[in-house]
Amino acid sequence: MRANTMTTLIAIPGSLRRESINAGLLRAAAEVSPDDVRVEPASLRRIPLYDGDREAEHGIPASVQKLKDRIAASDGLLIATPEYNNGIPGVLKNAIDWLSRPPRDIARVFGDRPVALLGATPGRGGTALAHAAWLPVIRVLGMRPWFGGSLQVAQARQLFNGDGTLNDAETRERLAAFLQGFVEFVRENRR
Ligand code: FNR
Repeated sequence: MRANTMTTLIAIPGSLRRESINAGLLRAAAEVSPDDVRVEPASLRRIPLYDGDREAEHGIPASVQKLKDRIAASDGLLIATPEYNNGIPGVLKNAIDWLSRPPRDIARVFGDRPVALLGATPGRGGTALAHAAWLPVIRVLGMRPWFGGSLQVAQARQLFNGDGTLNDAETRERLAAFLQGFVEFVRENRR
């Protein structure tokens, strides 16, 4: 483990909603992270729908290439996944699908890259089924998932303000501990 170096995590919220609670969870993660950890938000807003014809004719869109390069230069990924119909929301899966193109670049972007999943929902299930749906995706991309902690925020309406800001002290503490565990894992596994 290399101490005293900055650890950079790319934080991807799987929602386009302005008041997204998953984006809010990642904003809170940036706030509770230690000084030597940079949680850098990424947005899926400029990622187009995947279209093989577009890829064949125009290559990888600039927004996708930029995010690929940011992930490749990072120490790990934080993915805050909403759950839609018991699975991964389309915008998030779409982004991952673009980011996995072309296949020869998967190892550079995702290979052995530490990843931690978290999620929030107004429902009771805490995004557990979305987390389960992520497992084969993480596996096929060759990422290194961290399962040492879990942050699946259920019944989130009581824990977030209307603008998606986390306002619950206990969840913030859980988030800080989650982040600390993941950062230790990232540092132990640094390539
Ligand atoms: C949902 N939602 C939802 N929640 C859940 O816990 N399990 C589910 O299967 C679903 N399914 C689902 C389908 C669709 C199409 C939508 C639009 C919503 C509710 C979802 O958790 C809620 O909208 C969250 O607020 C989404 O996260 P963001 O956008 O606030 O980050």
